Amino acid sequence: MPKIKVALVGVGNCASALVQGLQYYGTRSKDECVGLRNPLLGGFHPKDIEVVAAFDIDGRKVGKDVSEAIFAEPNNVTRLADVPLSNVVVHKGPVLDGLGEYTKRVVQVSGHPEANVALVLKESNAEIVLNLLPSGAVNASHWYAEQALISGCAFVNATPSFIASDAGWAQRFEMAELPVVGDDLIDQVGSTTLHKTLLRLLSLNGVHITETYQLDVGGGTESLDTLDRTRDVKRAVKTKSVEAALPYAAAVVAGSTDYVDFLQNRRDSYFWIRGVHFCNVPMQIDLKLSTVDAPNAGSVLFDVLRAVKMALERKLKGAVEPVCVYGFKHPPHLMALETAEKLFGQFVTEE
Ligand SMILES: NC(=O)c1ccc[n+]([C@@H]2O[C@H](COP(=O)([O-])OP(=O)(O)OC[C@H]3O[C@@H](n4cnc5c(N)ncnc54)[C@H](O)[C@@H]3O)[C@@H](O)[C@H]2O)c1
Repeated sequence: MPKIKVALVGVGNCASALVQGLQYYGTRSKDECVGLRNPLLGGFHPKDIEVVAAFDIDGRKVGKDVSEAIFAEPNNVTRLADVPLSNVVVHKGPVLDGLGEYTKRVVQVSGHPEANVALVLKESNAEIVLNLLPSGAVNASHWYAEQALISGCAFVNATPSFIASDAGWAQRFEMAELPVVGDDLIDQVGSTTLHKTLLRLLSLNGVHITETYQLDVGGGTESLDTLDRTRDVKRAVKTKSVEAALPYAAAVVAGSTDYVDFLQNRRDSYFWIRGVHFCNVPMQIDLKLSTVDAPNAGSVLFDVLRAVKMALERKLKGAVEPVCVYGFKHPPHLMALETAEKLFGQFVTEE
């Protein structure tokens, strides 16, 4: 199979889990790929994904080989695999709004000169730019989307900045004849998906939900960034997505809530659901889900990158709806989970 050449924007926890996952699964046969939803997708194995360029701003990562940078502080994701030298060096990008009030206390901006990002993308033959910037870095995300357009690369936006779901940006990718997917990646064991599935199951069984919330605490840099910059936007995206699971209005709150440093890259998600069933008798559910944040993105990222490669091969342009609804919390158009699954299934099996 041809390689899927990816440029990483942001070498944080999520990028670390992705690169470690490529090493972990790279030597395993299809049947040994435990923990992946799709060991093979469109004929592609995870080993077909290759990181060819990387950008960051932190002095502990810039100038280092990717295999070393992914373990540099403040990254705190669990060690999943030993990664050999990749011969891909992390370049410095412009800081723009990459740092928030809290994260500027933990990120050490590199003194290296800024790279010509578009040139690096071209020279490395990158075909997909994967945006893993902090969720508050809206301007920087837009800037890297611009570099993807200039360099003729597809764009995957894992962050909650609106790009694939923004009609103006989607049109720009359409005019450049390039695919774009986003926004805000869905996790493999995602609190939003779990919340929606529970609500849907209950409402299918005739339970009338009156109120529900889902809040979580995490210890990664991303949770710290959320504190001052993106709690509102993340909450709005998640709440809207969860509300769509119920066929009637209920009081719904869903979204990140706080940072607890000793959790490291762990995330604890709390679910509360209250409703009434037979003869108006009340019921309630009180649940906790514990996950490690960054590896939770790996399986979905593998699928999204392979699906975007298929979109490139089919010369698709603009927002690729089946990939957006399958892999992201804020696609251009929200759909029921079953419809999204069906669309994606058709997309990856079509010739
Ligand atoms: N499970 C998941 O990890 C998951 C799920 C859904 C969405 N996401 C999204 O993925 C993104 C990355 O998450 P993360 O946990 O890896 O975050 P992180 O904070 O660990 O990593 C962000 C990286 O970007 C770098 N950076 C900051 N400004 C930059 C700039 N201007 N140019 C280049 N690099 C810059 C930082 O130094 C850091 O290395 C976030 O937007 C998050 O919301 C992650």
